[in-house]
Amino acid sequence: MALRTIDVPSSIKKFDLSDSAESLIDLANDRIEAFMLADQTVLENFVTCDFHLLDQTLTWIRENHLMTGDRFCELGSGFGVAAMLAALQGMQAVGIETEPVLVSQSSDLADDQQNTAKFYCGSFIPPEFELQSENAADAEHLRTEDVDVYEAHGFSMADFDLFFAYPWPNEYPFFNELFQANAADGALLLTYRGREGMNLVRKT
Ligand SMILES: C[S@@+](CC[C@H](N)C(=O)[O-])C[C@H]1O[C@@H](n2cnc3c(N)ncnc32)[C@H](O)[C@@H]1O
Repeated sequence: MALRTIDVPSSIKKFDLSDSAESLIDLANDRIEAFMLADQTVLENFVTCDFHLLDQTLTWIRENHLMTGDRFCELGSGFGVAAMLAALQGMQAVGIETEPVLVSQSSDLADDQQNTAKFYCGSFIPPEFELQSENAADAEHLRTEDVDVYEAHGFSMADFDLFFAYPWPNEYPFFNELFQANAADGALLLTYRGREGMNLVRKT
């Protein structure tokens, strides 16, 4: 199995966001700011992606029928905004996050917005995979000692059609390896890469 890159055109930035996406992003940004100011614990691995660009990319993926199904998984979901934007676009969305306080914040935000995204606490890295990975040593920001969230909730990476993650630059090979080893054939991996924008690959 190989990974095939799908170019995401810069013209997606012209897409308008729905009113519901705009209001979710506004509320999420307010809550993230309040959380960062109030919380004494520094969560150094929690950084947010460009939510507007993400929603525009999801619109483009959907309008071009690139997904083989409608199941979406945010790997390291933070405040869960990507999963909630995917849910607003009609996807069955989940987020997996290792920090309990962030799982709690994202679940509260989803409840308050009557958003269908679900959030699970644990590591998105299946335990057996971490031991085998050649690139695991470079994935220093990824916590992996948690319970097996897939086993605990009765699903696996092979169940999803689109994954989203915001990795640190040295973690790109690890995410590609994780995706290639565990996702279903035809699934997509979308990663936010800062100034480089969005990167999309399909497992073929
Ligand atoms: C860069 S932040 C991205 C947050 C969110 N996806 C976004 O784009 O706004 C990465 C998140 O992954 C979480 N994380 C790191 N390693 C993880 C792991 N092995 N399993 C689950 N979450 C993890 C961190 O706690 C952090 O919230």
